[in-house]
Amino acid sequence: MKQQLEEILKKSLTEIEKSVDLKQLEDVRLKFLGKTGELTMILRGMKDIPAEERREIGMLANSLREKIETSLSQKFSELENAKLLADMEKEKIDITEPSTGTKKGALHPLTRFNNKFMELCVEMGFTVIQTPEIETDYYNFEALNVPKNHPARDMQDSLYITDKILMRTHTSTAQVHAMETFKPPFKIVCPGRVYRNDDDSSHSPIFNQFEALVVDENVSLKDFMIMVREMAVRLYGKDVKMRVRPAYFPFTEPSIEIDATCQMCHGKGCALCKGTGFSEFFGGGIVNPKILEMSGIDSKKYSGFAFGPGIDRSVMVTNKIPNIKYLFRNDMRFLKQMR
Ligand code: PHE
Repeated sequence: MKQQLEEILKKSLTEIEKSVDLKQLEDVRLKFLGKTGELTMILRGMKDIPAEERREIGMLANSLREKIETSLSQKFSELENAKLLADMEKEKIDITEPSTGTKKGALHPLTRFNNKFMELCVEMGFTVIQTPEIETDYYNFEALNVPKNHPARDMQDSLYITDKILMRTHTSTAQVHAMETFKPPFKIVCPGRVYRNDDDSSHSPIFNQFEALVVDENVSLKDFMIMVREMAVRLYGKDVKMRVRPAYFPFTEPSIEIDATCQMCHGKGCALCKGTGFSEFFGGGIVNPKILEMSGIDSKKYSGFAFGPGIDRSVMVTNKIPNIKYLFRNDMRFLKQMR
């Protein structure tokens, strides 16, 4: 038995030494140490060996196995190193070969426009906040003084999840969150997606707005107009013209709609602006004191203004995009033209 074991040791060590690649080495390992390997079989047959010999043979077999394993692992790293070197030799990089060019990603036109607006707002001292896209009836309507019979409350116009929960129809919800969270004076801006049950070439059920709200002592329509003028100049250049129309929003009083020079025709008059040279910039107004009170702000001491531009329309006009859906399809052929 002892002799048989010594034979196995000798045989295995020579075969390990003679292996020229990892595959061959693995075959040697299986031949001796595998499930039906020569040494494994002997170890399995131990129970048939007379008890007095078993201890000695067992010890010998185990030390043999260790020797074989050590030799195997030495040879393994030797062969692996050799393989690595050979591979590296094969894979020499030719640094003189001309490049085929790299592909670079780019920001989506909506993201770019949004970033530009947010940077502007931050420079003007606004804090950027984010509020939920799924809202309760309270934040979307009730706290904004939208009456119970208002058409926006209808299932036909808003995307409801349950009776009381819906996808926000405007970012004005952020006004309520801000008034509940911050102590005046504060200036917040909240960009985000909004949802309405509306779908044609200039309306998409998902679109983007942002909401700006300023609350302080003695805030007036004059302050609002100065800020809006500054924003329009920074976005569209100092030749931008603006005009103001009266409007109605339940949460602002007075409410106004501001138009700015049409960016499609630069004021000359075109199909988009119906020949007027102006297109809608955004709606806003002086925060209705009722709204301040409902969110716990003293309306005798504080006043505010708020406005909420849509972003998609501006992006469409400045990039001459004919259908709003292009902004949401993520078609590479379109996006490549928008870099
Ligand atoms: N939320 C209004 C809209 O979606 C815009 C608006 C914002 C009006 C803030 C007044 C004040 O049309």
